[in-house]
Amino acid sequence: MTAPDTLREAAAGAEVAIAEAESIIELDRIEDEYLGPKSTVTVARRSLRGADEETRRELGRAVHEVSTHLAALVAERRATLERFDTDGRLASESLDLTLPGRVPPRGTVHAVHAMWDEIVDIFVSLGYAVASGPEAETAYHNFDALNTPPWHPARLESDTLYLEYGDDPEGILLRTQTSPVQVRWLEENPTPVYVVAPGRVYRRDPLDATHSPVFHQMEGLAVDQQLSFADLKGTLQHFIEALYGTGRRIRFLPHFFPFTEPSAELFMSCHRCDGSGCRTCGNTGWIELLGCGVVDPDVLSAAGHDPDEVSGFAFGVGIDRLAMARYGIAEIRHLWDADLRVLEQFR
Ligand code: DAH
Repeated sequence: MTAPDTLREAAAGAEVAIAEAESIIELDRIEDEYLGPKSTVTVARRSLRGADEETRRELGRAVHEVSTHLAALVAERRATLERFDTDGRLASESLDLTLPGRVPPRGTVHAVHAMWDEIVDIFVSLGYAVASGPEAETAYHNFDALNTPPWHPARLESDTLYLEYGDDPEGILLRTQTSPVQVRWLEENPTPVYVVAPGRVYRRDPLDATHSPVFHQMEGLAVDQQLSFADLKGTLQHFIEALYGTGRRIRFLPHFFPFTEPSAELFMSCHRCDGSGCRTCGNTGWIELLGCGVVDPDVLSAAGHDPDEVSGFAFGVGIDRLAMARYGIAEIRHLWDADLRVLEQFR
């Protein structure tokens, strides 16, 4: 039978252990040692049952004293350790809210695409639809349906990139212009037609300061009842004013395109020297902007429309050249170099 004094001695050892416990796990172990099922206190409590009355009173009091005292110490130490634990975690996980944030690198719209958006928007605000067509195009849509005969020099392999495809190596090519989208749109839609088609085009040119084998055009097409060259002029005048303001003079010079008759090239008074002549305009005072004309009746009938019922006008403008003029980019290859020092200027 345990004596009350033995119990109190054990309790003194427990007090020290509890006070020195460094972690909750250690405290759990100490609690088990001094208050658990095999501890001196528990064994003593169990022995009370068979003991005589006096022992029960004395030993019982000691068991009660020691166990409540130790339980209180354990609870107190546990609370302290838990607070340490939280404090430590808070300290190690704390955020310094005064640190400046890291700014992620931000992409920019490419100069060509900024220009593309700008000119498409001008025509969308006039009610034009926006179309696209395949870059790998049939020779029929790129040439034949556009009134370009088989012997036309533009069809030569020295100018056009043909794709070997199926049985006919000359059947599929990388489109040399966005004009085939005119044909595709006319084949699939009734008149009236008001549509622009921006896109990538390909020519067999090496990349140098002024040429690129890939560049961008925007095609425009309007087909309706009684459209004439006057409507073309009015539309393009609006286009130039929307792009460059009202200060520019424009002029049309006769030209030849197989798919328009009459055809013209549109020139604008130089945006840099205002017509007096400079390097940008090659001292002519004029900048060539685009090709245009009245849609050839053959193009309308090839796409299933009656040229006696409807007429129209078309134009094709080089987007890269417009972008270079707008942003003062001297060489077309800068548009393809992917040099961030250049590209980041167009926010
Ligand atoms: N497709 C011509 C080119 O690439 C540009 C062009 C000229 C388009 C006259 C037209 C047009 O629609 O009517 O040079």
